[in-house]
Amino acid sequence: MKILKFNCIDSTNTYGKTNFDTLEDGTAIIADEQTHGKGRFNRVWVSKNCENIYLSLVLKPQNHAHISNFTQYMSVAAAKVLGTYGVQPQIKWPNDVLINNKKICGILSEAVLKNNKPAGLVLGIGVNLNCDAQTIASIDKPATSLNLETGKNINKEEFLQKLLDTFFENYENAEQYGFEGFKEEYLKYTGFLGKTVYIQQRDNAQKEQYVAKNIDNQGNLIVTDSQNKEKIIYSGDLIY
Ligand code: BTN
Repeated sequence: MKILKFNCIDSTNTYGKTNFDTLEDGTAIIADEQTHGKGRFNRVWVSKNCENIYLSLVLKPQNHAHISNFTQYMSVAAAKVLGTYGVQPQIKWPNDVLINNKKICGILSEAVLKNNKPAGLVLGIGVNLNCDAQTIASIDKPATSLNLETGKNINKEEFLQKLLDTFFENYENAEQYGFEGFKEEYLKYTGFLGKTVYIQQRDNAQKEQYVAKNIDNQGNLIVTDSQNKEKIIYSGDLIY
């Protein structure tokens, strides 16, 4: 696998998209620091040089049927690796990874189109590995870092290798079968099913209250409203 390493870059996702045509399938782009780290819904991903993971994978799958599930597949890989450090990660639908209800890992997938047809995607992941408490406190939502949870400094190279190995171990399965190929594992990390939750479609949009019931075979969230009517949620932020 080709790994491109940068000390400082605007965003590993942006680099992957700009250079998509010339990068091989499976290329990993890694930076120590990002000046314009991007999050979901045009948010900023705080990307200081803290020995954190800022990684993007350039993926050019043969089968495009399930590429929308790759973020959830990556969240399972990240949760598995985090679990090896003695913490108990949870996945917050669709793909945030939390420890003790605080976000430790975010995932952003960006599709790449050629002549209006999907050519592949850039799958970015940020994991807080060695952040100081002050940087964590500056993040506008509850956040944490693996060193703060374990009380130990985390070896970044080791974590990165474990993450890449775990992701590519069952990648073909996720490509072929989509969410169904890893649903059982995903469900092991969900702590929100059965709970009252709120869905927010955008920042500052009204929060809608539901009960989270299940995840369907495509990875969508099934909820019930106050009338006990079932609804499928395809995207948005889950708050609980
Ligand atoms: C989120 O909002 O939760 C998604 C955050 C994704 C951050 C990662 S860091 C590496 C890659 N490059 C970016 O600019 N964003 C992603």
